[in-house]
Amino acid sequence: MRILSGVQPSGVLHIGNYFGAIRQFIELQGDNECYYFLADLHALTTVHDGEELRRNTRELATAFLALGLDPERSVLYRQSDIVEIPELTWILSTVTSMGLLQRCHSYKDKVAQGLVPSHGLFAYPVLMAADILIVSSDRVPVGKDQKQHLEVTRDIALSFHARYGEEVFTLPEPIILDEVAVVPGVDGRKMSKSYGNTIDIFGPEKAIRKRIMSIVTDSTPVEEPKPREGSSLYQLLRLFAPEGEREWVERAFDEGGVGYGEMKKRLFGWYLDSFGEARRRFEELSQDPDEVERVLADGAGRAREVVVPLMDRIRSLVGIR
Ligand code: ADP
Ligand code: TRP
Repeated sequence: MRILSGVQPSGVLHIGNYFGAIRQFIELQGDNECYYFLADLHALTTVHDGEELRRNTRELATAFLALGLDPERSVLYRQSDIVEIPELTWILSTVTSMGLLQRCHSYKDKVAQGLVPSHGLFAYPVLMAADILIVSSDRVPVGKDQKQHLEVTRDIALSFHARYGEEVFTLPEPIILDEVAVVPGVDGRKMSKSYGNTIDIFGPEKAIRKRIMSIVTDSTPVEEPKPREGSSLYQLLRLFAPEGEREWVERAFDEGGVGYGEMKKRLFGWYLDSFGEARRRFEELSQDPDEVERVLADGAGRAREVVVPLMDRIRSLVGIR
């Protein structure tokens, strides 16, 4: 099966991104042909500083590699290195109705959040359709907020087939990731960089410890049992507890006698056990940006092996060049 997904390099990665998405990407490498890319063209809708975007993109590539993406097995590339993507975007935009894009809730949500209501933001799903269709991916792992974009992608592919009378595109199916794990943030809402409630995967240990110690809890005294319901500390402990310690978490909540401060210290320890290795690899790779660039250049080359023949076919079909 050919799998494809993209992540926007729009900020630092948090553990929600890992448990909700990247972990699945890494696991899918086992039995599939995986294409993962850094969606820097999409990020232009929110990151408006060139140096920052370049840095974010390199860091996201470094993070993927540190977290276990195997560049021998999977193809990792930067979206903007595949110049055929914006070309296909334009072609697809001529078969995409305004109404289809007007129905997209992510555009409306983003404008409501205060993003510039640019044409790029409006046409964002067409660029995403080009990403997906150009590598003929069968399955696309995405969060539930992106499900509609997959439906739009299929609609666009069908319109193209109807107009040009040839089924050049594979119709992709989503793999919805939000059903796997929704990670709560330190304030109890869904962890999200837009809420400022994240626990990051990389970055200074001290700052992460501080974040974990700031997880909001109620005022149940140390000796009393603690409510699990609605407790993000409980959910995070469950997420990180090693097999043999799960019972400790249950008892700490049910029987009392363990304060929230102590639980948070445990959580921090388990966080380091889980991500320590990846954090070390991230530091190492950060010292070797040439190696990351080499992986991305190789990935772009391999992606273009599937992109170029399909694009030639499309150009010939629509009558350009
Ligand atoms: P953010 O909300 O921080 O901006 P993104 O929208 O960039 O995060 O998320 C990228 C990916 O990470 C998505 O596929 C999404 O499903 C996943 N993800 C983000 N936050 C969480 C979370 N709190 N729990 C589970 N998965 C998450
Ligand atoms: N829109 C996706 C997001 O914000 C990122 C993305 C861009 C993507 N192109 C894609 C995801 C193609 C899957 C397939 O998370």
